[in-house]
Amino acid sequence: MSDQHEKSAEIIKSCCTKFYENDLVSLVLGENFHPGGEELTLYLGEKLRLDENSLVLDVACGSGTSAITLAKRFGCHVVGIDLSEKNLAKARVKANAARLSQQLNFVKSDAENITFEHETFDVVMSECALCTFPDMKAAVNEMHRVLKKGGKIGITDVTIEDEIPNNLKEVIYHVICIAGALSAPGYQKILSERGFIDVHFEDHSYAIREIIERIGKLALSLDIIEKFCECDLAESLGINFERANNILKRGFEELEKGTFRYGLFTGIRGEN
Ligand SMILES: C[S@@+](CC[C@H](N)C(=O)[O-])C[C@H]1O[C@@H](n2cnc3c(N)ncnc32)[C@H](O)[C@@H]1O
Repeated sequence: MSDQHEKSAEIIKSCCTKFYENDLVSLVLGENFHPGGEELTLYLGEKLRLDENSLVLDVACGSGTSAITLAKRFGCHVVGIDLSEKNLAKARVKANAARLSQQLNFVKSDAENITFEHETFDVVMSECALCTFPDMKAAVNEMHRVLKKGGKIGITDVTIEDEIPNNLKEVIYHVICIAGALSAPGYQKILSERGFIDVHFEDHSYAIREIIERIGKLALSLDIIEKFCECDLAESLGINFERANNILKRGFEELEKGTFRYGLFTGIRGEN
């Protein structure tokens, strides 16, 4: 990688990390920073056939919600890695509070350079994060490397199936950091090329619809609060409600058209 590329990759990673550390983002998204919430995480856990013998790696674990949910439901051990010290610290506090510290470990590590030995994990999973990595192929290589032969991979992510209109591009590329999202066949190709077999895709786009609706309701309630208390909430939060509503409306229309989707990918690490 050239120096210039390396520099811009570091900027993308740091922007993404800061965005998902922001308290306003936590307010909007809640504990889960991915569409589908706990329900989709548990469904993924079922698909990956987790049990108390599974050692799982959660790549880009955020504040640890998925890792904790899986440890609680399936009795598995989960290592969560992320670049955000702030979210990792939150994850450790939540694991302690849930009395699950014995099953959970949160470590700072870059998805593109995972600090674990070859063939360490039975399962590698990652929710709504692959599309944010500047070098997605490097991340998939690393997931493959740390997974035992015959181990399972489970990924949920945004897919972009068609050209995104310009006014949505800015938000999608620079605000929610999903510049690298591929089409569903694009992700399947990367996984297959790296040696994953039995690669399957399932559509879970309803999960994005739910998030857009939730953000819409939140924007509306902030708008009502602002009118009620005659305060300039928008300015103090740095939000332009009208613009936010327009973006949400466009997002909804593009989702209905199938321009982007939310998908679940599973596969098995082959012998190579
Ligand atoms: C959309 S959030 C998803 C978090 C979590 N998987 C969840 O579903 O709640 C994306 C996460 O990726 C992390 N991240 C971004 N680039 C990363 C990288 N190169 N390595 C590890 N984590 C990274 C961010 O800090 C953030 O926590």
